[in-house]
Amino acid sequence: MLESKVKHIGVLTSGGDAPGMNACIRAVVRTCIYYGIKVTGIKRGYAGIIQNEMEELNARSVAWILDRGGTVLKSSRCLEFKIREGQEKAFENLQKAGVDALVTIGGDGTFAGANAFHQNFGIPVMGVPATIDNDLRGTEATIGFDTACNTAVEAIDQIRDTASSHNRLFFIEVMGRDAGFIALRAGISTGAVATIIPEEETTIDDIVKILEAGELSGKSSSLVIVAEGGTLGSAIEVAAKVKEILPNYDAKVTILGHLQRGGSPSSYDRVIASRLGVAAVEGLMEGREGQMVGLLYDKITYSPITEAIRKGSGVDPDILRISKILSI
Ligand code: ADP
Ligand code: F6P
Repeated sequence: MLESKVKHIGVLTSGGDAPGMNACIRAVVRTCIYYGIKVTGIKRGYAGIIQNEMEELNARSVAWILDRGGTVLKSSRCLEFKIREGQEKAFENLQKAGVDALVTIGGDGTFAGANAFHQNFGIPVMGVPATIDNDLRGTEATIGFDTACNTAVEAIDQIRDTASSHNRLFFIEVMGRDAGFIALRAGISTGAVATIIPEEETTIDDIVKILEAGELSGKSSSLVIVAEGGTLGSAIEVAAKVKEILPNYDAKVTILGHLQRGGSPSSYDRVIASRLGVAAVEGLMEGREGQMVGLLYDKITYSPITEAIRKGSGVDPDILRISKILSI
């Protein structure tokens, strides 16, 4: 059996929750137990370390959570952890609890925190990518993205039914913070006429031309997907600008919002959450630190956390190209 360099692992979820976080917590806890490592669940992300909200977990503590959305450990956005004093308090509490390594499940903010903690105090950390936004480098998937896209697509399909019955134009806003991954996936999956994302400059004129061309070719309804961080503003703003030029269009706006973050994780998310959770613990056992466990070509990989959170467009230009070809 693998010899472990760590004896006691703390696990937390932080930032925006994502479906599949529970499956990952379960995997981390059970892998620790399997290898004889003590495991502590930390409540409400970094806030729980500072406030000392920690509890030892066992294999049964994580029963019945595999299929549940949200996170049983709860999450938070903790400003205090961003400053040195907050991190010092957290470090002292971890030392008192005897925790000698951390698995942090979350997105880029969570990883920025993990990296700072690792750099400042030398505590071994392993990040597990879990965010509906899918905006991390070094992994082809983040836990929760698949489920969020499925949820968005199901909702947009329902909007399509009513849009086509009334020959209407809908502007549908999806989440993603500064990234257009959900928007692109949803746009291709639902046959959107256009998808506005942060990674590509789009003008109102572009949208107007696309809508007019669609009308000429006989489209009876049109869906425009607007990523919340898209270059033309919110769906409400885009709709208003388009209406100024095309006042005869019967245009409506739907903002999908937080419903995209909830719900039972897809089979895909449950499986990657399980794989990444096991690999996170095994990575720490091997002595890895300051890294993120990811999936590339469906194989487990480890990369520096600093690389995972490096900014810049990760959108595949081929996906963008396909979405344009198919929307004519
Ligand atoms: P996500 O992980 O979903 O991107 P956030 O951006 O809200 O979520 O980040 C989660 C938490 O990580 C923050 O509330 C804060 O506690 C911590 N964090 C983010 N950035 C830093 C940083 N530069 N230094 C220390 N902690 C950070
Ligand atoms: O990062 C996940 C996410 O849902 C983003 O898509 C969105 O911009 C943000 O979190 C919303 O955060 P909050 O729940 O704090 O409003």
